[in-house]
Parts: sequence; structure tokens; C-alpha cells
Amino acid sequence: MAAKPATVIAIYPGSFDPITNGHLDLIERGSRLFHRLIVSILLNEEKEPPLFTVEERVEMLREVVSGYPNVEIDHFDGLLVDYAAARGATVLVRGIRAISDYEKELQMALMNRRLRPEIETVFLMAGEAHSFVSSRLVKEVIGLGGNIAGLVPPSVEVRLRQRFDAAG
Ligand code: PNS
Repeated sequence: MAAKPATVIAIYPGSFDPITNGHLDLIERGSRLFHRLIVSILLNEEKEPPLFTVEERVEMLREVVSGYPNVEIDHFDGLLVDYAAARGATVLVRGIRAISDYEKELQMALMNRRLRPEIETVFLMAGEAHSFVSSRLVKEVIGLGGNIAGLVPPSVEVRLRQRFDAAG
């Protein structure tokens, strides 16, 4: 068994397109659990074209985590576990909202464990106030003229409004 590292570094990976209050809740809690938390944006997302560029997402994340001295913003490409190892991290943090998240998260955690057993995935249950919030739904609701106040940080709401006003 590997020795326990003196400094536990955790990676919180994701698309963060954009960051929601659910993500922020996890960042806050993760920052209390680990010595260092690296929030890292996946580059070259294949799913669908992102609304915000990686640079914009980095900026938005930096704005909202400025109060957490042990939280860093980064981005990565390629295999998450290889990136984590290169950053000296031993933990991956993921949030689980509902049972519907579980299957995908279990698959990813088991694959990541197979690739690098020394890296552990830690799941945090989303705060109940955020259990229905996703970046995808936030974009859909604001795009259709709905109110997203309280679902994303105020600075992110401003950016979303600008983006959709410019598009509309
Ligand atoms: O916020 P998301 O979009 O659900 O995050 C998904 C993410 C970034 C965690 C996942 O797509 C990922 O880790 N991609 C990197 C490529 C990789 O390592 N794939 C194998 C993981 S099983």
C-alpha cells in the first residue's frame, strides 16, 4: 500500500460550461477536505460545442474561487488520470446529484481505477438545494427567457445574459 501523502491534492474535473452554484458548493466543500483542490476544465469537449471558450470558463472560475486560497484553476487534455498523476494528485472529486448520475460516474470511476489504481475517486453528494441544477439546464432556461437567479454565481449570470442577448 502506498504511503499516505503529506499533502493531499485533489482534482475536480469537468466541463464547467458554465460553473453553477452546485459546482461552487462542491468546490467549497472540497477545499475543506483536501490540502489543495485543482478545478480543471476538460479541453476539446467532444459532446457538443461549448457556450464559453476555455479561457472564458477559466476566467469565470477564477472570479468565483478567489476567496479560497487552496483552490487553483487549470485545464487538461487527454486522460484524466494521467493529468492527475502529472499534477501529483491522488484524489478525483466528483459530485452526484441524483441516482441518474450514478451509472456514468460509476463507469468512469471504475475505468479510472483500472487505469491508475493509486488514484481514488471521492464522491460528494450535491447539496439538496442544487440537486436539480446542471449547466445544460441553466443554458436552456436562460436561452428561453427563464429566471436563473440563484442557480449560478451573479458574475456568471451576467456573462450568460450578455451571451444570450448578443445571440438574440
Ligand atoms: O462535467 P462533465 O462533463 O460531466 O465531466 C466529464 C469529465 C471531464 C470528468 C470526463 O469526460 C473526463 O474525465 N474526460 C477526460 C478523458 C478521460 O480520462 N476519459 C476516461 C475517463 S473514464
